[in-house]
Amino acid sequence: MNTVVTKLERLWIRHSSASLQPWITCMAVARLSTLPAEPVIPSKKPFRVELTAGKRYSWCTCGHSRKQPFCDGAHKTKAQGLSPLRFVPDKDATVWLCGCKYTSNPPYCDGTHKQDFIRSATLHEHTDS
Ligand code: FES
Repeated sequence: MNTVVTKLERLWIRHSSASLQPWITCMAVARLSTLPAEPVIPSKKPFRVELTAGKRYSWCTCGHSRKQPFCDGAHKTKAQGLSPLRFVPDKDATVWLCGCKYTSNPPYCDGTHKQDFIRSATLHEHTDS
């Protein structure tokens, strides 16, 4: 696993190293550098979608898309490190695609949205136009 130390983290190391033991600083930097981006929660319910056999779909994994539950490319600027889940259904079907982005069976809803950590979370709101 590659560990990338960003400019911000180097600044943090410089300012924190005076008060922290070096090994604590190194552990913190390694954790900061390797954590995957976390999705935001655009919906606390799944989306009912009619899928067409053979058509390619891109399910949004970051939660920033304005075309939920599908990708609109927002991850490129708002959630680097996350990318859409691409899939092609082999038959026409009506399915429930996850809207909370925390399903364990992506892109399909598995009921995770009913758990407390989703129910108590703040819904993502788009702040830019
Ligand atoms: S909406 Fe995400 S698990 Fe149901």
